[in-house]
Amino acid sequence: MSVQQSFDSLPIPRHVAIIMDGNGRWARSQHKPRLFGHKAGVDSVQEAVECAGEWGIEVLTLYAFSTENWKRPADEVGGLMGLLKNYLLKELSRMLKNNIRLTCIGDIEKLPTDVRAVLETSIKETSGNDKLTLNLALSYGGRAELIRGIRNIVEKVRSGKLSVSDIDEDCMDAHLYTAHLPDPDLLIRTGGESRLSNFLLWQASYAEIYFTDVMWPEFRRNAFLDALREYQNRERRFGKTSAQIKSG
Ligand code: IPE
Ligand code: IPE
Ligand code: MG
Repeated sequence: MSVQQSFDSLPIPRHVAIIMDGNGRWARSQHKPRLFGHKAGVDSVQEAVECAGEWGIEVLTLYAFSTENWKRPADEVGGLMGLLKNYLLKELSRMLKNNIRLTCIGDIEKLPTDVRAVLETSIKETSGNDKLTLNLALSYGGRAELIRGIRNIVEKVRSGKLSVSDIDEDCMDAHLYTAHLPDPDLLIRTGGESRLSNFLLWQASYAEIYFTDVMWPEFRRNAFLDALREYQNRERRFGKTSAQIKSG
């Protein structure tokens, strides 16, 4: 069965979120510096974006830099920021051509000014696109996101724009960076670790989680396809019984 045939009958996740981990260890296995791994990782990003567009995934969120990653050595942080800027500069025309909308989540105020400027331009230029949303998590942390959301809600309650009884799940959703996106259906982590590392703590409540030992620079089309197949074989019950799910 071809990929497309099987896709016609099986569910495609609307939103796939990926923790792109393992660049450093992969570089070490090649006897190269860590930045070599991050550079190779950019090629995997391109391939993942291409696949997501082809397969009809609506949103691809990529965890590119966490709030905790600021603790890394300055030269690595600088190298990552440089790669991000180059990626955005290089990819803008392709995003426009392929109808990709770029969005981001995270505390982008912390990014270097030049990187932020390029990011904001790309977000603005692609804002009218509607095929795939490429959502980059940059200087992102789930806990910081929740605190920011709660602070905003409290401010609104204080000023009378919201009442305490208005605070429900939809209200919380609306005060997160991801307010413009559906929750992730499939969350992939490459690089062999089985943890969330502060990623989408609220939004991933019912995501199917897929951990793979494949290091991010080696996570290409076939590895992505394996994750998708696994997702398609899972039964999402959302608290119900299997019999309830089967009877529709
Ligand atoms: C993921 O790879 C990239 C970022 C976190 C920015 P790592 O750099 O964490 O690679 P490992 O985990 O050290 O192998
Ligand atoms: C998670 O990877 C963050 C990103 C992929 C951007 P880390 O390598 O930073 O996670 P830990 O430190 O192993 O939990
Ligand atoms: Mg890591």
